[in-house]
Amino acid sequence: MKIQSICCIGAGYVGGPTMAVIAKKCPDIRVTVVDLNEARIAAWNDEDVSKIPVYEPGLSDVVAEARGRNLFFSTDVDKAIDEAEMIFISVNTPTKTYGEGKGQAADLKWIELCARQIARVAKGDKIVVEKSTLPVRTASTLKDILENTGNGMNFQILSNPEFLAEGTAVEDLMAPDRVLIGGDQTEEGLKAIDALVNVYANWVPKERILTTNVWSSELSKLTANAFLAQRVSSINSLSELCEHTEADVNEVSRAIGTDSRIGPKFLKASVGFGGSCFQKDILNLVYISRSYGLNEVADYWEQVIIMNDYQKKRFSKKIINNLYNTVSGKKIAFLGWAFKKDTNDTRESAAIYVADHLLNEQSNVVVYDPKVTEQQIYTDLDYLGSRAPEENKESLKVVNDPYEVCKGAHAVAVLTEWDEFKSYDWQKIYDNMLKPAHVFDGRNIMDKKALRDIGFKVHAIGTAD
Ligand code: NAD
Ligand code: UGA
Repeated sequence: MKIQSICCIGAGYVGGPTMAVIAKKCPDIRVTVVDLNEARIAAWNDEDVSKIPVYEPGLSDVVAEARGRNLFFSTDVDKAIDEAEMIFISVNTPTKTYGEGKGQAADLKWIELCARQIARVAKGDKIVVEKSTLPVRTASTLKDILENTGNGMNFQILSNPEFLAEGTAVEDLMAPDRVLIGGDQTEEGLKAIDALVNVYANWVPKERILTTNVWSSELSKLTANAFLAQRVSSINSLSELCEHTEADVNEVSRAIGTDSRIGPKFLKASVGFGGSCFQKDILNLVYISRSYGLNEVADYWEQVIIMNDYQKKRFSKKIINNLYNTVSGKKIAFLGWAFKKDTNDTRESAAIYVADHLLNEQSNVVVYDPKVTEQQIYTDLDYLGSRAPEENKESLKVVNDPYEVCKGAHAVAVLTEWDEFKSYDWQKIYDNMLKPAHVFDGRNIMDKKALRDIGFKVHAIGTAD
């Protein structure tokens, strides 16, 4: 079966870039991305392509090439469902903030709404693709809804989790390590799998397209994120031991990463991992394991989150301890707010938690990030509910200039690994700071020796001061 029309529900960080790349690589397929959020769709349609709502290197070029040709963004969800043979669901699946499973389980209400809408609208058979990250066995819920609330149409459900990382989304989508497609192992299910394989085969080598049963595919996505996050927590746990023993965590990472069984990636010690998914997906794994009574399994994975929370706290404590145990009334300059470089996404960014901790200690935090807006920074902080929004506005300021942000500060804290931070005129920054001038490098990107030669007191992750 050759697919000619695709609809994707959800025009976010995954739906937008993923569909843009499918449209670029498959000019014969009409791809329509829909969302309830009118402002988001308007931004995707902005004539000035630099204003699209997701910042990703290379993405605006891909959108500019395909938009209006075979890539469309719309708020008319019903029409797009009706016209498509294959429907991707790429809506948000955040951690539940209420009721049963609060703080751990994935909130599937948006997924269910999509399923009900597809069932109501569909007047022909459809292939429904889970692109969102979902708890294992969600496909059976979807099937139940589609079959019981629909118009008697046939639905095949595929799981096709997305493995792109933000900041490298376009690269990852153009040349993925693998594409994973899970489906029913029946004749109809295998046909549906084949239809999606053929879409990806337009640019992904066949041997990189893995097919499995639907449950393995769903669980593999949670597992992949859990393994990646576990590596970060593992190296972060050892970073503290390094600080006490004069071992250097960067050297330890290099030493173990050259073992081909371990590999060099995801061994960079940091202020803690952030992003919309690692924490949410591990908590979900913990919740699922506990719901099957597998407490040892749940405890094992929960430790990855506990260690990450500890690492964020440890970083803010390090700042406080080194500033003579009080930061009250002191200016701390933050370089970076995004959860990693090359993205404007701030979800679960370590910077939010470090700022919150320092604000509790009555510090004046001033933030500069090359891509994150002032409004987003306040939204992130207000969301924690630690203090009134007016108080947040009073004690945290956002400044558009990196030199201005550091002026008169007691300390600079590097929270995101943006490349530009390395090439600043650090002598100029030093001259304008209070003394002793401290740099707390939460990403280990700075040249420690060069900074020390200028006169800074430098504190990194995983090396003795
Ligand atoms: P997002 O919040 O950026 O986008 C989701 C979009 O879905 C929002 O714009 C929202 O308005 C829209 N939406 C919700 N319900 C809708 C409905 N009923 N009809 C139409 N639109 C609706 O989320 P995201 O970061 O793109 O993540 C989406 C999914 O992909 C999540 O399950 C996430 O775990 C997974 N994922 C994310 C990443 C990532 O890097 N962000 C990577 C891999 C997988
Ligand atoms: C991660 C996965 O890498 C993707 O494969 C997955 O698709 C995605 O989650 C998802 O499901 O949402 P992402 O969160 O965008 O992608 O970015 P990562 O590069 O994985 O970084 C996550 C966090 O870990 C960042 O805060 C990063 O700074 C931190 N990190 C990463 C480290 O602290 N050290 C490392 O060595 C690597």
